[in-house]
Amino acid sequence: MTTTVSKTDIAHAVAQLKAGELVAFPTETVYGLGADASNADAVRKIFAAKGRPADHPLIVHVADAVQLANWASGIPPAAHTLAKKFWPGPLTLVLKRNSRVPNEVTGGQDTVAIRVPSHPVAQQLLREFGGGVAAPSANRFGRVSATTAEHVREEFGDTVACVLDGGASDVGIESTIVDCSRATPTLLRPGWITPQQLEAALGAPLAAPDANAPRVSGSLEKHYSPQTPVMLMEADLVVELARSLMKQGKRVAVLARSARRPVIDGLVWVAASADPAGYAHDLYANLRELDQAGCDAILVEQPPEVEEWFAIRDRLTRAAAGSGELADDYP
Ligand code: TXA
Ligand code: MG
Repeated sequence: MTTTVSKTDIAHAVAQLKAGELVAFPTETVYGLGADASNADAVRKIFAAKGRPADHPLIVHVADAVQLANWASGIPPAAHTLAKKFWPGPLTLVLKRNSRVPNEVTGGQDTVAIRVPSHPVAQQLLREFGGGVAAPSANRFGRVSATTAEHVREEFGDTVACVLDGGASDVGIESTIVDCSRATPTLLRPGWITPQQLEAALGAPLAAPDANAPRVSGSLEKHYSPQTPVMLMEADLVVELARSLMKQGKRVAVLARSARRPVIDGLVWVAASADPAGYAHDLYANLRELDQAGCDAILVEQPPEVEEWFAIRDRLTRAAAGSGELADDYP
């Protein structure tokens, strides 16, 4: 991972946060668009910049698990177990909030989401800042998450002056979210850390999400991203459909994994990694590239239905469902 961030850059970013301004920063999952989580006015700027509805709660990023108590209350042993095992890393815990957390951060809910990221630049920023940084993924609402500083600039232009460049995010998809605010931990959003890993750490099964699980607003149909329609299908169908659509004069882009590139003039073809880590790492950059090709459809080869592809299949299904921001529509 390349980082081109100096001590001066960090000091500048910290000063911006303290002044109530926004700072985009790298994490190991995706880039975040951050503000001082204790400053309600600063947090409001995130919603304005993203165009995100105010009732979508944000994740509070902190440097270490010691800071949990600054934001949460009644932290159950299971949360400590998961924090100890997976932090710093791509895991977010939802806990009962305490009274100091601004409503702007929690979307008015009685819970707060907290994460300790492992990316060295995020760590440096959070340590120097000292407090919590509320941050959603650094993309405009209804668009693909950003995994490089360049993607962040594409999304926000001059609206976000301070963008820390920490290279391409290692993991590439958003964190696993586990609700620990109720009796049995519940998976709210799949991510690189799998249910099996969580259950192994807990020594007990996760609960299935139910109607009482903490909710995020937004519905699958409401938003749409990428701009180009995404169709998810088996490998052999990809090539067949690409041929037939192109015969009809349509422009077609393909995100392939194992399918061999057919010889068709003008077909836009991205060969993604056959292994899940590489695939996740490149997923959003690939979707951006395919989206920018200006085609009528993006055909995506369905990855295998096995555990290590679970979170990737989830993101692809949402993209294909015409959902908006790929990871923001979770109940
Ligand atoms: O990997 C990540 O989690 C990235 C990086 C920047 O840390 N962040 C991220 O944030 O993906 P965002 O805002 O794009 O997605 C956070 C998700 C949203 O679906 C939000 O509704 C949910 O977490 N969330 C936040 N607070 C919550 C809460 N108190 N209860 C339930 N869900 C919550
Ligand atoms: Mg997001």
